[in-house]
Amino acid sequence: MTAQHDGAGGFVSFVSAGPGDPELLTIKAADRLRRADVVLYDDLASGPVLDLAGPGAERIAVGKRAGRPSARQEHVNALLVEHARAGRRVVRLKSGDAGIFGRLEEELHAVTAAGLPFEIVPGVPSACAAAAAAGMPLTRRLTARRLQFVTGADVTGGLPGDLNWPALADAHATTVVFMGQRTFTVFARGLIAHGLPPETPAMLATAVAHAEQSFERSTVADLAAQLDGVKAELPALIFYGALEAPEA
Ligand SMILES: C[S@@+](CC[C@H](N)C(=O)[O-])C[C@H]1O[C@@H](n2cnc3c(N)ncnc32)[C@H](O)[C@@H]1O
Repeated sequence: MTAQHDGAGGFVSFVSAGPGDPELLTIKAADRLRRADVVLYDDLASGPVLDLAGPGAERIAVGKRAGRPSARQEHVNALLVEHARAGRRVVRLKSGDAGIFGRLEEELHAVTAAGLPFEIVPGVPSACAAAAAAGMPLTRRLTARRLQFVTGADVTGGLPGDLNWPALADAHATTVVFMGQRTFTVFARGLIAHGLPPETPAMLATAVAHAEQSFERSTVADLAAQLDGVKAELPALIFYGALEAPEA
């Protein structure tokens, strides 16, 4: 169970940074950043949101970004416990919503195993921010009654081996693939083999809420061809499914 910080002793706040625009932070997230003694932050949460931490707060990068050197998970867990045990207000700043594809489970386990109090501050997932910025609903009353978020990469960076292909090949859902740029060519092959029409609408949403933000509309087959062999540098989401309103 989460706890209230009583002002004494160490405390860990898992804080959702949203997609990167400080205006998309919750008031609670901004408050926890302002009062933090130490902020452990991911690469994707390192922009202007981090500037909201007070000048006295220690900032520690523990970034995890596909294809780049990153702090080991055990090291991040150990830092959380060490700083909270020292009586500090620790903010663990994660991009988007802290509970989505962010290894929250392992960190929670480390904190609870150490008997330390914590809270989770929810936030705007990058997928919701992307749909809003693209001017698009995530569900549609008649054509997309289901929404699914899936990761395109496991801990090794490869396509997870246990994907639910029939669910993912459902053209009447909106599907958002996180961390999927490197594997989408193979992923799309699996979708099409399981019955998803290759011309299903798709969208690549890159660097949402950042200066480099862009949206590219395409189809599943065309996007798969476009991403083949590309070493993407910027974070992106892949949307596919009933992304367009049906003809009236
Ligand atoms: C480790 S996951 C974290 C997801 C995050 N917890 C969320 O709720 O959005 C990182 C992946 O999320 C997506 N992502 C996060 N921030 C993004 C942004 N600003 N623009 C586009 N994609 C983003 C990308 O697919 C990226 O590879």
